[in-house]
Amino acid sequence: MTSTGTRPAEPAAVARPSRTSHRTLVRWGVRHGLPAAYLSRAARRGDLTGRLLRDPAQREQPYELYEQLRAIGPLAPGSLGPVTTSHAVAGEVLRSEAFGVGWDRSAAPRAIRWALEYGDELDATGVAEPPSMLVVDPPDHTRYRRLVSRAFTPRAIAAFEPMIRRTADELLDALERRADGPVDLVEGYAEQLPVLVIAELLGVPTDRREDFLRWGSAAAATLDPGLPLRRYVAAEKALRAMHAFLRGHFDRLRRDPGDDLVSRLVGLPGEEALTERELHATVMLLLGAGFETTVNLLGNAVVLLDAHRDQWNALRAAPEGWANAVEEVLRHDSPVQITGRNVRTDVEVAGQRFRAGGRVTLLLGAANRDPEVFADPARFDVTRANARDHLAFSGGIHYCLGAGLARLEGVVGLQALSERFPGLRVDGRPVRRDLQTLRGFEVLPVRLR
Ligand code: HEM
Repeated sequence: MTSTGTRPAEPAAVARPSRTSHRTLVRWGVRHGLPAAYLSRAARRGDLTGRLLRDPAQREQPYELYEQLRAIGPLAPGSLGPVTTSHAVAGEVLRSEAFGVGWDRSAAPRAIRWALEYGDELDATGVAEPPSMLVVDPPDHTRYRRLVSRAFTPRAIAAFEPMIRRTADELLDALERRADGPVDLVEGYAEQLPVLVIAELLGVPTDRREDFLRWGSAAAATLDPGLPLRRYVAAEKALRAMHAFLRGHFDRLRRDPGDDLVSRLVGLPGEEALTERELHATVMLLLGAGFETTVNLLGNAVVLLDAHRDQWNALRAAPEGWANAVEEVLRHDSPVQITGRNVRTDVEVAGQRFRAGGRVTLLLGAANRDPEVFADPARFDVTRANARDHLAFSGGIHYCLGAGLARLEGVVGLQALSERFPGLRVDGRPVRRDLQTLRGFEVLPVRLR
């Protein structure tokens, strides 16, 4: 190691970007710096959860490590508490009222409580922080979810099918004009379709989609524990830009409401009215969840079907198979790999006692390859009879609100793509997103003809 002879250099992970505020540093420290240090130490001692969350190689290929965890048992001990790869255990935890997503801050050490309070700021709040419905328990969860679920009923979603098809066709028309050269299918299609569809559905301006994509991609990293400071600062900048956009958008809708979900949320009367913070959390979650996940479904599907050309050809010949193919992609390479639950009341699951205040990590991507449920689980088979039994959309009261929409975008988007460019091939090395919780591609080079 070289020495400067004066002050020891800060390690790269905590090198302080210029003009980072004290509050940002505290926020990063408590949410990412401390977990990173803890998990890295655990990983060095051989802890598999630590390795999963800290070793960059696991972002490319987590499935071997999942099998090591599975070999230990349905609940493997780990640095963050028990971890499950079992479909039955994950399903039971997700459905059980003894587990929840809320966290009782009052039980945390004083320094952590201080840091959380000091670092609390609406404009730096991400989708995995309260009051986002993703991380609050009933009764608040029930209230938020009820306010928005009407826009996501099977009937409401089915009515969007022509718009999804039209959007896909327009994107494909634009690709057609570039079809002679190499194309990045994420940039030209997989990320565009979901962002355009959710923007249309929520009534936010589609011409801001490049901003949404840029902000969403930086902010998605906050779902992973242990972000390096520089990435956290970039994510926070994106979150601030997104909140500023939302604030302006809400103001416009207050003056001039439209016939859309966000106008309705902004104008809720009396006791139903959402606070400013609840409004930001709800709309940011709908917008972000609407495009940050479905892009991965589309990208993962294209890569898998390129590697299984016979199945791509079979789907072209019998397009009614696309619905099941989408389920198999969701099962085989799940866009959301990891979630977790906090123990609310003492309970026993799979013969193990859980004490209130503890935590369990659910590896959805591993549960979806549980041999107890899926025969020969590592095999990709678009005709698999029980593909739909996956937990890719989670389960219980937090079951993905947008599952119907994502499925429809998957089927319509992939079928339209295969009809327009039947000879499409991956051409070059796809690059995975540098994320652990979300799994998908950042760059997907293809030849369209
Ligand atoms: C392939 C695409 C998608 C996947 C794999 C996916 C996956 C998930 C998962 C796993 C959860 C629950 C996490 C947990 O239980 O801790 C969730 C929740 C949620 N998703 Fe999705 N999602 C997708 C698309 C969408 C879309 C298009 C929307 C549209 C708005 C959406 C909106 C939501 C919302 C609002 C929640 C929170 C529900 C609650 O807490 O009650 N998702 N999603």
